[in-house]
Amino acid sequence: MPEPVRVLLTGRHGQLGQALVASVPAGIELIATGRGELDLADAAACRSAVEQHRPDWVLNAGAYTAVDRAESEPALAEAVNAGAPGAFAAALASSGGRLLQVSTDFVFDGEQGHPYAPEQALAPLGAYGATKAEGERRAAAALPAERLCLLRTSWVYGPVGANFCLTMLRLHRAKAAAGEALGVVADQVGCPTATAGLAAACWRVIERGVSGRHHWSDCGAASWYDFAVAIGAQAAARGLIDAPARVKPITTADYPTPARRPSYSLLETSTTRHALELEGQHWQAALAEVLAQIPLPTA
Ligand SMILES: NC(=O)c1ccc[n+]([C@@H]2O[C@H](COP(=O)([O-])OP(=O)(O)OC[C@H]3O[C@@H](n4cnc5c(N)ncnc54)[C@H](OP(=O)(O)O)[C@@H]3O)[C@@H](O)[C@H]2O)c1
Repeated sequence: MPEPVRVLLTGRHGQLGQALVASVPAGIELIATGRGELDLADAAACRSAVEQHRPDWVLNAGAYTAVDRAESEPALAEAVNAGAPGAFAAALASSGGRLLQVSTDFVFDGEQGHPYAPEQALAPLGAYGATKAEGERRAAAALPAERLCLLRTSWVYGPVGANFCLTMLRLHRAKAAAGEALGVVADQVGCPTATAGLAAACWRVIERGVSGRHHWSDCGAASWYDFAVAIGAQAAARGLIDAPARVKPITTADYPTPARRPSYSLLETSTTRHALELEGQHWQAALAEVLAQIPLPTA
């Protein structure tokens, strides 16, 4: 029997981390860590974890993901989002292992108006995107290219964790009950990405030994407004909510946030789909599968 591939996972309790733990393929020996086992803000601890476990891969799914809070905590965001991948990459360079670093559409400024290709130059707008971009840079500086996979994704959500879909379910219920409209930003366009498909893409990277810069999202495009409307309609059809609230399109200027966000951050995913031999699915089909995993409310 071939030796199992040893994978050191970070962020096991995050949305992606939970989907990864739930879908470990045969032939993988998983060492799953959360904040309790490995503090990603501690670069020495990240290096020691590689030296101790000698993984074939580090799958770095943990991150500082609070986009707005990162504006007031840039040092912590940088330690986690840039320090950890840099430390993993440096240790893996010595140990011979590989790194799968999960990154974000927020490394782009959203100005170009057509999908971003994996090799394009980065131009983040806010602290979160800047720290993730710096994490990519440090990983690429420390590891030979054939032992690094940078996998960017967008608008991640799933049946558990803190995400837009679960927030919208709560707001649809509350606003419909109050007879109020739900205002959602309609001038930011991207693509929702369900955790199950993203986890499958991560495992495929490891199984195939894929390297380089890659993009993974579900298929199609949406504004946050479109996504909110679809969540309401599908959730009502499934019985998760009695009825959707009326969703009102608003502008980014109507909903000011500490961090600036890209107005158009679709990712060009075709080369990655080809490399991984994964077709993916339209985001509305993926949404139906996510909603099907959320328990119906008890009477
Ligand atoms: N969410 C999105 O919309 C989105 C979009 C594009 C890319 N991404 C990227 O996708 C990846 C997965 O994101 P996600 O949505 O699964 O994020 P998430 O649900 O926020 O999970 C991130 C995990 O990282 C952990 N973490 C944060 N700081 C840590 C530290 N100092 N030490 C150890 N663990 C720490 C968190 O632990 P606690 O649970 O203890 O806080 C959490 O479990 C990240 O690389 C993210 O940048 C996400």
